[in-house]
Parts: sequence; structure tokens; C-alpha cells
Amino acid sequence: MSDDESLLQPAPETIERLPVGMASRLLMGGPVTLVTTSWRGQTNVMPLAWHMPVSSGPPLVAIAIEQSRYSVDVINHSEEFALNIPKRPMLHHVQYLGSLRGEHIDKLDAAQWGYFGSSRVTAPLLEHCAGWVECGVRHALPFGDHVLYVAEVMAVHVDPASFDDGWRTDAGDDRPLVFLGGQTYSAFDRATEARMPRDLDAPERVLADRMAEELELTQEALERRGELQGRLEREVERGNVVDVDAAAAALDLDLDDLLDLSGGVVLGDSDEAPS
Ligand SMILES: Cc1cc2nc3c(=O)[nH]c(=O)nc-3n(C[C@H](O)[C@H](O)[C@H](O)COP(=O)(O)O)c2cc1C
Repeated sequence: MSDDESLLQPAPETIERLPVGMASRLLMGGPVTLVTTSWRGQTNVMPLAWHMPVSSGPPLVAIAIEQSRYSVDVINHSEEFALNIPKRPMLHHVQYLGSLRGEHIDKLDAAQWGYFGSSRVTAPLLEHCAGWVECGVRHALPFGDHVLYVAEVMAVHVDPASFDDGWRTDAGDDRPLVFLGGQTYSAFDRATEARMPRDLDAPERVLADRMAEELELTQEALERRGELQGRLEREVERGNVVDVDAAAAALDLDLDDLLDLSGGVVLGDSDEAPS
């Protein structure tokens, strides 16, 4: 520590120190992907959360795969792969695929997951996805217990219901999934636009005002949501009919979130609504 640093304020006591292995979990947050591969007519698929863009010209992405995975063997031979970005309802399938090693089992068949041909690589593209990135490997670099593949993007496809110049947070079940670790996932939920101070403004004051504004809005939204939820729960207790989809839309909720509708009559045909 330098003399200058010792003059810094001590870290707040509320901060918790974690094992170094948790750094990866703190940095997780992009959409979870399924890496499809193909070699000599055999296809494989593995869920992958450790990916990042590394260059825009040429467009390069990197993925880190643990050395013992079967996908490493396949990619080392085929030198290509596709990243498939599954939609929210596929989370159970994604988790299941992460528990299987593809060497002796056709995982796509085991998960009953359909696929179709890609445009630039031999790896297939999966159905029920929001986007697809076809990649050709340019470098394979071992780091620790993982291999980092740096690959050139050969083709990109999206489902416009999910992506419109960026992920659509209003797309319901067409949204991708974010992996938070263990068996926990989240969905791209809400978009907020950042506003910059103008040249003439004092940035520190403008930023503080905007943060206060934002917190107030969040508080208000939470209160409104609580009120609406209470009203709905009372309807369900009285045995009244509740339209699950309309309620979820009004509350800005996912259907498997929060509400226990088990006592009520449920309208709507989502297979995720509690019965
Ligand atoms: C959501 C999720 C994300 C994962 N991310 C990675 C990852 O980034 N890198 C990795 O090596 N394994 C990751 N795994 C584990 C592999 O997907 C898992 O070991 C898989 O069974 C490997 O399949 P394979 O042996 O057929 O290649 C992840 C698993 C899940 C469920």
C-alpha cells in the first residue's frame, strides 16, 4: 500500500469479503447461451455463461470452457460453434443440459429440443431461442482450468419478438435468460434510459437529483404493485375469477412470481400458471 492509499477512508463496514472464486459470479450478467457443436455428424450442446465480445473489427467473441468438458474435444476438432440464446421458458431444459456430458448421449434428443441448419457453420441452431451467433475459432488459449476460444462471428440471427436493436425488456416469454449461478436465473426485466448532464449543468448536482428522482419512482412503483397485488389476493380468497395474464401484465410480473393463486379460478392458458 502506498502512503497516499493509507490516507484513504476505510472501507464501509457493511462490505463483505468473498472468496476469490466468486469474482466470476459477480461479473455474470449477459444472456445465458447454449453452445452447439458438430463433428462427423454428431451434435452436442452445453449451456455456457462465460462469454464476452472482444473486438468489433473484426467481430470477435470469446468463450471460456472448462478443459474436461466434452465440448472442448469437439471444438478442438471442428474449430467452430454456434451460440444459441434460449428464451425464458427453456430454463429447466438449460439446467438439465448442464448436468449431462455429451460424449455418450445425444443431449438434444434427451431434451427433445428441435434444431435447424445454420448458415455458415456445421453446428446446428436451436429452436426456442431469441438469438443465434455462428462462430469460427481463431485462437484456443488455455488459462487455468479453462480454454478460452476467441472466435470470429460469421453470422448473427435474431427473433424480432425478442430483439429490436437491443434485447426487448417488454417481450415476456420471448426474453432471454441471465444465469445468476447455482440453479437461479433472471430475465431482462426493465429498461431505464441514462440521461447525461448538459454542458452548462453542474454534473454532481444533476446526477444527485436524478438519482433521488429515480429512487422516488422506484418506491412509488413498488407501492402501486403492492396495492394491486393485495387487491388480487383478496379476489382470489373470495373465490372470484382472476385473469392471470391480465394480472401479471398489470403487476409487471412473471407468472411464476409472487402470487399464490392456488385458491382461485384461473383464466389464461400459460403452462406456467399455478393450477
Ligand atoms: C447455466 C449454466 C451455465 C454454464 N456455464 C458454463 C461455462 O461458462 N463454462 C463451462 O465450462 N461450463 C459451464 N457450464 C457447465 C456445462 O454446461 C456442463 O458441464 C455441461 O454438461 C458440459 O457438457 P459437455 O461435457 O457435453 O460439453 C454451465 C452450466 C449451466 C447450467
